[in-house]
Amino acid sequence: MVMIKRLRGWEVPESEATPESIYYNRRQILKGVTGLTIGSMIVSTPTHDAHSNETDPLITGKQEHPPAANQYPATRNPLFALDRPITNERVAATFNNFYEFDGTSKTTIWKLIEHFKTHPWRVKVGGLVKQHTIYDIDDLIRRMPIEERLYRLRCVEAWAMAVPWTGFPMKKLIDLVQPLSSAKFVKMTSFMDPDNALGQKPYFGLIPSGPWPYTESLSMEEATNELTMLVSGIYGHPLLKQHGAPIRLIAPWKYGFKSIKSIVSIEFVKEQPSTFWNTSMPHEYDLIANVNPAISHRRWSQSSERIIGTNDERRPTMLYNGYERWVSHLYTT
Ligand code: MTE
Repeated sequence: MVMIKRLRGWEVPESEATPESIYYNRRQILKGVTGLTIGSMIVSTPTHDAHSNETDPLITGKQEHPPAANQYPATRNPLFALDRPITNERVAATFNNFYEFDGTSKTTIWKLIEHFKTHPWRVKVGGLVKQHTIYDIDDLIRRMPIEERLYRLRCVEAWAMAVPWTGFPMKKLIDLVQPLSSAKFVKMTSFMDPDNALGQKPYFGLIPSGPWPYTESLSMEEATNELTMLVSGIYGHPLLKQHGAPIRLIAPWKYGFKSIKSIVSIEFVKEQPSTFWNTSMPHEYDLIANVNPAISHRRWSQSSERIIGTNDERRPTMLYNGYERWVSHLYTT
């Protein structure tokens, strides 16, 4: 009998590790050993910092009562290495998709979001579970084992970034609430606040908008995959509002629209739920939405991606956004 050793997703071969990941892991180790911030020791860096420039008002000035603020930065999980530099935080924080606030421009969200209230915030977990619970966001994050992971994010619009997220595996919450065996899908819902989120008005200019609130879904197998995270932080501090404070999903092998922001409800259901994009534009956005260079969007190719924050560098798109080892067993095609 031939024994085949299958690599688990996180067992990245040494040959695939990049200078960037080595550099950042080394920074973590040095920080632990010396207790110093290495920024003061390294004058020029080959890429951008994983943690914030604390003096930048764009980064620090917009958070109100950030939950579990003293838990950041969390320890980096070194199993998730990148093949590219981390995106500059200012670039990531000023180029967003958040249709509740503006569906016409990505560079305005960070300004339009100022009056959005993210405190107090509760997340209702219910449906086909034993433990129906309404969590205060601060209690929920403190209860969970938060960690930092470097992930690529690939938008369906063919741009990409690489970001240090802080959060916990969704599976940890699922284990806590104990779904019934009849639960086959997880439906997630964002907030509804049309007074502050003008995109949620029934008409945005002349364009009908909706169906609000934004919803997304995963199968139970996808939701419990070890890559799937509920994220409350970015670049070593609590999430900024434009990134989906106080808590959002990250499923990095899927197009970014699956990674729903500012979640208020997580419901376990029997049937595949409808979602925001699949309901509003079913011919353009499917329910599975796995990153795949071979399947074009109806209006553009998905074979390559533009790296934001660079001089229009393009990279070939990777199947499952490069996370094939973790997730390919979930799908037949
Ligand atoms: N979640 C909500 N509630 N509303 C949105 O418009 N946009 C999605 C996703 N989550 C969106 C959302 C899309 S299309 C992308 S690409 C990512 O958020 C962008 O995340 P970022 O702005 O933090 O980069």
